[in-house]
Amino acid sequence: DELFEFLRSEIAKLPNEVLLEEIPKLLDKHVPYYNWTGFYLMDQEGMLVLGPYVGEPTEHVRIPVGRGICGQAAERKVTFIVQDVTQESNYLSCSPLTKSEIVVPIFRNDGSVYGEIDIDSHYIAPFDDRDRRFLEWVAKQITVRVVHWNEFERRIRIAY
Ligand code: SME
Repeated sequence: DELFEFLRSEIAKLPNEVLLEEIPKLLDKHVPYYNWTGFYLMDQEGMLVLGPYVGEPTEHVRIPVGRGICGQAAERKVTFIVQDVTQESNYLSCSPLTKSEIVVPIFRNDGSVYGEIDIDSHYIAPFDDRDRRFLEWVAKQITVRVVHWNEFERRIRIAY
C-alpha cells in the first residue's frame, strides 16, 4: 500500500532521538482513520505509562498489565485488534468517539515488553493486515533504534 510505503520512508529518515515523539504526529497527520495515536511505556513496576501521543487527552495515564486492551496486549505479548469496542468487555474507554482500537507490543531483545503502540479509530473495523504489518514494523523500528540503542549507550557508559 502506497500510504504505508510513504510512512515507512518518512520514519526511516527520522533521527533515533525523536522517533517516539515524531511517529504519533506523522501517523495522525497521514492516516485519516488513526484518530488517537500514541505510546504506552512499561515502568519498573510493570505499569503501562502514557508516553508521547496525538489526540484527545486521556484519563488513562497508568494502565496495569491485564487491564483494558492495552493491558491485555502487554500481558499476552501479541497485537490486539478490536474492530468494535462495544464487543470487548475488558476495555478502558478514553473517548465516546472511539469505535475500534489496535495495540501493538514493542519488545526488548530478551522478549520482554518495552511498551506499545496504541491507536484508536472513530470508525468500526478500519484495521486490516496492512495496518498490522506496518505497525509491527514500526514497533520493530523502536526496538532497534530506541531500545537497543539506549542499552548499547548504557553499556558504553559503564565500560568507560
Ligand atoms: N482503550 C485503551 C486505553 C487507552 S486509550 O485508548 C488511549 C484500553 O482499553 O486499554
